Amino acid sequence: MAILITGGAGYIGSHTCVELLKAGYEIVVVDNYLNSKPESLKRVSEITGKSFDVYHVDLMDEKSLDQVFIENPIEAVIHFAGLKSVGESVKTPLLYYEHNIISTVKLCNVMEKYNVKNLVFSSSATVYGEPERIPISEDSPLKAMNPYGRTKLIIEELLSDLYESDHNWSIALLRYFNPIGAHESGLIGEAPNGIPNNLMPYITQVAIGKLKELNVLGNNYPTCDGTGIRDYIHVVDLAKGHLKALEKITEINGVNAYNLGTGKGYSVLEVVAAFEKASDVKIPCKIVGPRPGDIAICYADPSKAQMELGWIAEKGVEEMCADSWRWQSSNPNGYDTKTKIKIT
Ligand code: NAD
Ligand code: WQD
Repeated sequence: MAILITGGAGYIGSHTCVELLKAGYEIVVVDNYLNSKPESLKRVSEITGKSFDVYHVDLMDEKSLDQVFIENPIEAVIHFAGLKSVGESVKTPLLYYEHNIISTVKLCNVMEKYNVKNLVFSSSATVYGEPERIPISEDSPLKAMNPYGRTKLIIEELLSDLYESDHNWSIALLRYFNPIGAHESGLIGEAPNGIPNNLMPYITQVAIGKLKELNVLGNNYPTCDGTGIRDYIHVVDLAKGHLKALEKITEINGVNAYNLGTGKGYSVLEVVAAFEKASDVKIPCKIVGPRPGDIAICYADPSKAQMELGWIAEKGVEEMCADSWRWQSSNPNGYDTKTKIKIT
């Protein structure tokens, strides 16, 4: 039996493929490479010494997806595929509704057809909107603040409806906080297209000299130093959470949401300081105005995942920074292999 990984060539998907292969699972990957490159999967193979089938398929193409289920004994799906830029979703909401929601409907149709009813879905802490209470627990009110967040919320709801219609479904909604870091090999990591929107890839690109300075987006929040606080989680810890969720959904049916975060918050300036220490590179910073829609503080109460999945994040912010830096400094142009530097 095999686990189907949609969006497996992407940042979180590729790290999860490594952990699944290490744990002895058979995997099959589907990706349209809209925001990734096949090279990431070659490196997954290099890290693990294992091979697996990869389909260059868009989830919108239900016929090709059907073929994947015909050719493979799929028992569960981990569904990463989708678009994830908040800013882009405000500019092109239809693209987000199509790529995130419609493609999930198509995936579930095919799963239903082949009687595969175990699903782990990549949700996000963004479904909490501006949280009323910190730390944020899974029963906090849900509110989307932008089209991207709305797609995650709608998918969570449609998956709950699916379960209500058929109690044979078993679904884990994993609400990720802020994934950063990279595999310790330095072979796979986050490779954003163009100028990064997120903090850590921006910092690492300043560190290698691709960008001049970090714009600190606001220093007037009610936090220790005025900058925004987030729950950064090492991508390998996050990947391991998927294995725990997979074990859970094969044991019991239902729809369950789990926060995957560390439960600790770090300000922008604290992350910059941790990165400078880990890399020994100074990050020039300029304070600018806040980004519209940003919230002051967001960190998880991860106790439900600990109690019900037996999962807890193990890696600290120092390791997250050191691994992000190893990845970026060994691969200044991401997966553009022409410029890959040999790691010694
Ligand atoms: P990513 O962009 O690196 O990976 C997504 C992958 O899906 C890419 O390889 C892309 O090519 C593929 N894809 C997109 N649309 C597709 C389609 N229609 N058919 C087939 N493949 C398609 O993103 P990521 O950071 O690895 O995120 C994975 C998931 O986790 C996403 O659903 C994202 O919304 C969610 N998430 C990410 C974060 C984060 O900060 N990275 C936080 C919370 C939730
Ligand atoms: C973190 C902190 C910024 C960039 C986003 C999505 C969310 C989820 C994770 C997918 C904030 C500050 C950032 C910069 C800065 N993705 N910052 N300078 O906004 O918490 O979450 O990614 O689901 O949906 O909204 O992450 O990394 O963009 O920002 O000062 O150049 O860093 O203001 O305080 P965010 P981020």
